[in-house]
This record gives sequence, structure tokens and C-alpha cells, in this order.
Amino acid sequence: MAYFETQNISISFGGLRALNGVTMDVRQGEVFSIIGPNGAGKTTIFNCINRYYNLDEGAIVFKDRDITKVGSHVIADVGIARTFQNIELFKNTTVLENLLLGRHRHRRTNLLTEALFTRSARRQELDAREKAEEVIDFLDLQAYREQRVAALPYGVQKTVELGRALAMEPELLMLDEPSSGLNMEEMEDLSFWIADIKEELGITILMVEHNMRLVKEVSDRVLALNFGVPITVGETEDVLNHPEVMKAYLGEEGAAA
Ligand SMILES: Nc1ncnc2c1ncn2[C@@H]1O[C@H](COP(=O)(O)OP(=O)(O)O)[C@@H](O)[C@H]1O
Ligand SMILES: [Mg+2]
Repeated sequence: MAYFETQNISISFGGLRALNGVTMDVRQGEVFSIIGPNGAGKTTIFNCINRYYNLDEGAIVFKDRDITKVGSHVIADVGIARTFQNIELFKNTTVLENLLLGRHRHRRTNLLTEALFTRSARRQELDAREKAEEVIDFLDLQAYREQRVAALPYGVQKTVELGRALAMEPELLMLDEPSSGLNMEEMEDLSFWIADIKEELGITILMVEHNMRLVKEVSDRVLALNFGVPITVGETEDVLNHPEVMKAYLGEEGAAA
């Protein structure tokens, strides 16, 4: 049984079939990347997994559990976290506060007990702070911890978003174009972090990415998608050198990077 899989998933928006029978499986502990030209349906896959969209057909299964129709909060509860192509953070609060908000799913007390500040609430608060500080160290965010997100450079905001997802202690981390807008140095940091998230934290990664260099560096396997249809899936090198994949990317920026 696969660790995570989409089984023949399809969804249309009006007349447009954004996903048309996409089957893929992610193995525990790997970095699995989805590539494809703009509009191929990559983000839509994440939005279906996340329960932002309802599938027209097909199923999504995580650790033997059918999560096709669960409430969107359940996705976080089962240990799936994501980042967004366009950063989604609370821009007027600090880096630390954003990371603490990422801990939401680990809170098991209700508002009343929190108000009374019981031992368990206090324990959770301490756990959350400890985890947030760990993430801050891991991603080298010490210099920014008390700063408002809105005031930070774009690349740092992207890192904070990665941190927010990590603070949830996910099992499966979905990254939507993590390298977009980053400079060379930030790209290199990201590449190391992804390797460390996999190796040291043991988190499985499902990544949508446009930069082929990053895809090559970090991916174990790759799915190439075009017009909502899988072109090919397999070992990274094989997929990147597949004639249909190269054809789909002709004229696309970043293909040969
Ligand atoms: N909520 C939506 N309403 C209408 N069309 C959508 C919606 N979400 C995605 N699409 C369309 O589905 C296609 C795939 O989009 P998307 O998954 O964002 O592509 P990618 O991430 O691969 O660039 C595009 O043609 C896009 O316009
Ligand atoms: Mg996208």
C-alpha cells in the first residue's frame, strides 16, 4: 500500500479540465517533485489534497486513510502541511508569532482552559515555543524573530513560510514553487534545507517546482504534468530527459536551467 497516493483524480473549472486522471504515489521519506509548464495543474493538485477544491472523480489516500472528502482541518491533523506559491502569512505579526500560529493543530485545550492557564495549556505553550525556536535555529531566522513579516525581504518571507509549515511538525510537507523569487544564495540555502528536512527531520516532501536545477538536486522521483495529464513519472534524470517533457518545456523559461 502506498504511503500517499492520488488515484485517477480529475477536476474541471467550467469547461476547463484542469486535472484529468492524475495517478501518483509518494513514498515515505522521499522528495517527490511535480513539474510542468504554467497552467499544467500543479497547484490544483495541492488544492485538491488540501481540500480547497472538491474532486470530480478519483480519490486521495494517505497512510491507508481515504482523505478525499474529509474536512480541511483534518488534513492538518493527519500531518500534511503546505506552503503557497504566493506567500500566505500574517504579515503584520512577527516571525515568531507566525511560527506559533503554525502550531495550531497541536493545541488540545479549549479557550476556557487556556484562559485559566491550566498545566496542560501551559505545557502546550512551552512546547509550541520550543518548537518555534527549533525552527528558527534550523532556518537561521534568529535575526528576524521579533520583526514584522511585512518588513522583511521577499526571500526571508519565503523562509518564514517554510518555517510556519515546519512548526506544524508535518509528516508530509507540500512545497509550491519554493524557489520562485529567490536569489542564488537563497536558492542554495533552500536546496540544503530541503535535503535536511528529508534526512534529519525525516519529513516526506511533495514539491511543485519550476527551477530544474533545484528539481535535479533534491528530487528522488518526478512526475511531469501537462494540461492536467501525466506525461511520465520516474527517476529524476529519466523524467527530465524524456522527449515529451522536453517538448512540453520548449520555449518555457527555466527549462534548461
Ligand atoms: N479556482 C479556479 N477557477 C478556475 N480555473 C482555475 C482555478 N484554479 C485553477 N484553474 C485553472 O486550472 C489550470 C491549472 O492551474 P494551476 O493548477 O494553478 O496550474 P500550475 O500550478 O501548474 O501553473 C489553469 O488553467 C488555471 O487557470
Ligand atoms: Mg502553480
